[in-house]
Amino acid sequence: MAVGILLVGGFGTRLKPLTDEYPKPMLPVAGLPVTEHQVLAAKKAGIHTLVFATSYLSEVFTPYFGDGSQWGIKIIYAVEKEPLGTGGAIRNAAELLGRTEPIVIFNGDVLSRHSISDQIAFHQKNSADVTLHLIDVEDARAFGCVPTDDSGRVTAFLEKMENPVTQSINAGCYIFSPDVIDKIPLGTVVSVERETFPALVESGRPVFGYKEQSYWLDVGTPAALFKGSRDLVDGEFQAMQSTVIAPDAVITGGTSIGARCLIGAATVIDDCIIGDDVIIEDGAHLSHSFIAHGATISAGTIKNGHYLSKKLDLPIPL
Ligand code: GDD
Ligand code: MG
Repeated sequence: MAVGILLVGGFGTRLKPLTDEYPKPMLPVAGLPVTEHQVLAAKKAGIHTLVFATSYLSEVFTPYFGDGSQWGIKIIYAVEKEPLGTGGAIRNAAELLGRTEPIVIFNGDVLSRHSISDQIAFHQKNSADVTLHLIDVEDARAFGCVPTDDSGRVTAFLEKMENPVTQSINAGCYIFSPDVIDKIPLGTVVSVERETFPALVESGRPVFGYKEQSYWLDVGTPAALFKGSRDLVDGEFQAMQSTVIAPDAVITGGTSIGARCLIGAATVIDDCIIGDDVIIEDGAHLSHSFIAHGATISAGTIKNGHYLSKKLDLPIPL
């Protein structure tokens, strides 16, 4: 068994304007918030308690997830008044957890199908301080570069570099041995990527890389969020329960539609993410657009590459 911390306090700057009204982890991907996909994966791996490390728009998480009982997992909330960085957030959240089980940390904007249980087993086999999930990508510049030796031991941690030394990157899921958490100072802004990991490696502590090349995506940009949603939809379109769609609506391109929506007659919708409680009136044509929860799109609207909510109508940099 293990406990977990979900890092969901970032500003989501690269996703603006989608993150003007909702924090990045609560944006819908294939009908469910990014965070919910992660909660389901955590539950599957036997994690029984999960702390949400929140800061920006923290009030949005609790009404949706409550105490977690709906997902069969205990969810508790740690709120940073000012963001403490990834390391400071981990230490702050860990104050709500015991120190007897491994602690699994998740970046809150990652969709991953790797086996968290196998990663924990690999961590325990190596008696590691920290075990990072690693994945190979073509262009490693936007990520943490993590070279390892033949035994899987991490030899350096190099956050975001212009000339990556390897294609193997930090995939944003870490197992920490419980006593290692307390090496991060409490109440201080700390970056786990720029401070904690390099310091552990440099001082010769056992930091390991668990390599599993399964489906993985950081949904930190509008283009990536749309890709993640399309990938999970895997077909023409997907609609959540209780949504009503006119028979002559044409919906394509991996569009996802949330719960309790009404999609009107003669609408044409391609590659869109549509939240819950959305009304799309007759004859609207929408493509590559994000329709936020509760928005009404009036009849005949034609939009391509837009963010539309109750209040906003802004272009998305796709
Ligand atoms: N609570 C809290 N407080 N969470 C934070 C804070 C904070 O101050 N700062 C960032 N986070 C959360 C973000 O919400 C996100 O879920 C996660 O930490 C990672 O932050 P990002 O801003 O998404 O980082 P990144 O994508 O540039 O890089 C990170 O992820 C890559 C993999 O996707 C790094 O961990 C890289 O090393 C890694 O390769
Ligand atoms: Mg990210």
